[in-house]
Amino acid sequence: MEILKERILQDGKCFEGGILKVDSFINHQMDPMLMYQIAEEFVTRFKNENINKIVTIEASGIAPAILVGYAMQLPVVFVKKKQPKTMENMLTTTVHSFTKDRDYTVCISNNFLTSDDRVLFIDDFLANGNAAMGMIDLINQAGATLSGMGFIIEKAFQEGGKILRDKDIHVESLAIIEDLSNCEIKIR
Ligand code: G4P
Ligand code: NA
Ligand code: NA
Repeated sequence: MEILKERILQDGKCFEGGILKVDSFINHQMDPMLMYQIAEEFVTRFKNENINKIVTIEASGIAPAILVGYAMQLPVVFVKKKQPKTMENMLTTTVHSFTKDRDYTVCISNNFLTSDDRVLFIDDFLANGNAAMGMIDLINQAGATLSGMGFIIEKAFQEGGKILRDKDIHVESLAIIEDLSNCEIKIR
């Protein structure tokens, strides 16, 4: 997606350890016009999939996911990182965060992720794929179907993209970062 790549090259910042900071338009301040174009691109790329629900994980996935849901006229559910006492029929899984070096438990209600659902998962970053793997576990527990996974930015030098594509999952990433070494952003 050309306009996204240009924006990353213009406003993205490179940090130690292969971290790309995009907090002026995705992760802190947000650009809803760009985010809507991102959503429309996801709609195009997944138009042949039979989807009835958008699922994401808080926090940064919510903005793109809700715009995809708006564009597709479908409900959006987000996986929560804190377990509310009042959640009914809770499904949980453990996600390992490499960037924070710890495990955390995430949850979703089986009321909103069911065996009738054909899910499009949307997130901001695909790095090691741990959040995505947690999502797959929750989808399996619910007996739902995974129809596709869409990421705004994939870091090709981490293994998440390979792990998901090796499972024959329909993965779409709108900007693929090849390399961030020497604080230079290289996009495919
Ligand atoms: P993984 O899910 O692909 O395995 O990611 P990893 O454990 O490596 O990263 C954990 C968190 O860091 C995720 O957000 C992920 O989106 C984010 N992340 C990974 N690489 C980058 C990067 O290069 N730049 C930025 N800005 N973020 C990155 P999170 O902390 O779980 O959630 P959120 O609340 O920020 O959405
Ligand atoms: Na994220
Ligand atoms: Na993030």
